[in-house]
Amino acid sequence: MPTTSPIDIGVDELLTTTRAVRKRLDLERDVSDELIHDCLEIALQAPTSSNMQDWHFIVVRDPEVRGEIAALYRQAYERYRASPTYDERLRDPDKGETHQRVASSSEHLAAHMHEVPVLLIPCVKRRVQPGGRQLGVASLYGSIIPATWSFMLAARSRGLGTAWTTLHLRHEEEAASILGIPYEEVTQVALIPVAHYTGEGFGTAPRTPLAEVTSLDRYGQAPPW
Ligand SMILES: Cc1cc2nc3c(=O)[nH]c(=O)nc-3n(C[C@H](O)[C@H](O)[C@H](O)COP(=O)(O)O)c2cc1C
Repeated sequence: MPTTSPIDIGVDELLTTTRAVRKRLDLERDVSDELIHDCLEIALQAPTSSNMQDWHFIVVRDPEVRGEIAALYRQAYERYRASPTYDERLRDPDKGETHQRVASSSEHLAAHMHEVPVLLIPCVKRRVQPGGRQLGVASLYGSIIPATWSFMLAARSRGLGTAWTTLHLRHEEEAASILGIPYEEVTQVALIPVAHYTGEGFGTAPRTPLAEVTSLDRYGQAPPW
């Protein structure tokens, strides 16, 4: 059970201010084993399909290994940055400003990923074959995303910043080989940089209004709010 104490933060504040932290990751300060252990213990209380608990979390601290994984991430990031959709998003009249902020922050993370003291790689010990059924896909990802988000919430409540990233998965097989993961049997789901955050707290972020993303009874039928 956890031995480190969370900061004094209400549940709603925790849920609404756990941001993707990139520029405010403290690259100079190490993260203790106790903090990682406690956040992982909390993560293990999350649900899995049929209570299988076939998750596996790789905590990468070794600077050499971090460097190799970060290099794969950067390679994928550069390809993403060179894609036409990247530019289109930046020019979007409604969301361009938000995308520019995310882009600048993402650029920073890509450049510094190797310096982040802990890289967490959540995995599931199953694979969906190409063309696999939707139920299998949903069950696989649904068995690791809740736990990983719990980890991120527990981290935030202990002064640690995290960000959900997936770009390194463009090179999942190479990452598996670096990390000694049996690629045919185990799926990597994300790469979560973990560090103490700098500055004070976080705020809520702008989101598409609730009424635009909810329906009542039938898809597209306006909700009462
Ligand atoms: C499935 C998924 C994949 C993501 N992949 C990346 C990524 O590869 N790199 C990155 O910098 N951020 C990535 N993000 C972070 C999103 O950009 C971030 O959650 C979003 O901008 C909202 O940030 P906010 O909660 O701080 O407002 C990803 C988030 C999700 C949920």
